Amino acid sequence: MRQQLEQIKATALAEIAAAADAAALEAVRVRVLGKKGELTAVLKQMGKLSAEERPVMGQIANSVRAELEATLEARKADLNAAALEKQLQEEAIDVTIPGKKVEMGHQHPMNKVLQEVKEIFIGMGYQIVDGPEVEEAAYNFTRLNIEEGHPSRDRSDTFYFNDDDSVLLRTQTSSVQIRVMENMKPPIRVLAPGRVFRKDEADATHSPMFHQIEGLVVDEGITMADLKGALETLIKRLYSEDAVCRFRPHHFPFTEPSCEVDMQCFKCGGKGEIDGQVCSTCHGEGWIELLGAGMVHPEVLEGCGIDSKKYSGFAFGIGLERMAMGRLRFNDLRLIFENDVRFLSQF
Ligand code: DAH
Repeated sequence: MRQQLEQIKATALAEIAAAADAAALEAVRVRVLGKKGELTAVLKQMGKLSAEERPVMGQIANSVRAELEATLEARKADLNAAALEKQLQEEAIDVTIPGKKVEMGHQHPMNKVLQEVKEIFIGMGYQIVDGPEVEEAAYNFTRLNIEEGHPSRDRSDTFYFNDDDSVLLRTQTSSVQIRVMENMKPPIRVLAPGRVFRKDEADATHSPMFHQIEGLVVDEGITMADLKGALETLIKRLYSEDAVCRFRPHHFPFTEPSCEVDMQCFKCGGKGEIDGQVCSTCHGEGWIELLGAGMVHPEVLEGCGIDSKKYSGFAFGIGLERMAMGRLRFNDLRLIFENDVRFLSQF
């Protein structure tokens, strides 16, 4: 019997040592120490032993059981530790690898230029005001001296909301001039940036939605010299001290006299060509049109209850996209609206 016990012990120890996982260990335990196990079977034969032999064998059997149990436990702990170590290695994270950078956005280039323009005018004492994009034809046209039948009122140019053409998407921020003069008394010094809408096909220089910045100054003794001073200040501050601009006579129904202001082409320096090729930015003109302006027509002032004998004023309307193109030096208007990050992130 002693031999039998030694044999069971030796075999079991070898198997425990060889067990690759918890399941293999459990199989050894059940086979040897279980209710119907080998060791149990041996113990059941104890009754056949003599009274002297029994306690001796009992002791041996117990020590075999104790040793096997301890070895099983120890092996189990080893296997668990090894499994944990393996899992840790497999799932290891290298916290020193640089993470993915979160891209921070920034102001849209057009808003940057708008901000610069606003700051220049705020510095000259202007107040920033706003007006509705859905506007009455009275404010967008009639009260600006743009009479019925004027081509800009045509349905092919303007987005109307109703059949009698009385409500529309404003085609110009000049409508805000009327709203301001209705609500404020001179002295008036305002800047009104905003979106305007026209039925234009999008191309390099047109878009059905674009931005204008309207300016209006009404006070006693305002002259064309004040207009020129304000706009030259804008152009020199925004572009550079030696930026060249020209005031060219023009016609607008709501100003008299009226002019357009061009700046010398930043691409060709006013020559209209680069290395014998027509300049693609100014199309050979040498000048880029920036804005319309003029002295507020007396009838427009009177229509808003302002005495045109006492007060005079000037107004201007800047094309913001054009201005941004010159300021940031790119030559396709669509880039502003496409919002391609490769373009936007350059500014
Ligand atoms: N509203 C005009 C346009 O969209 C631009 C303009 C011209 C605005 C003369 C003015 C102005 O305030 O005095 O073409």
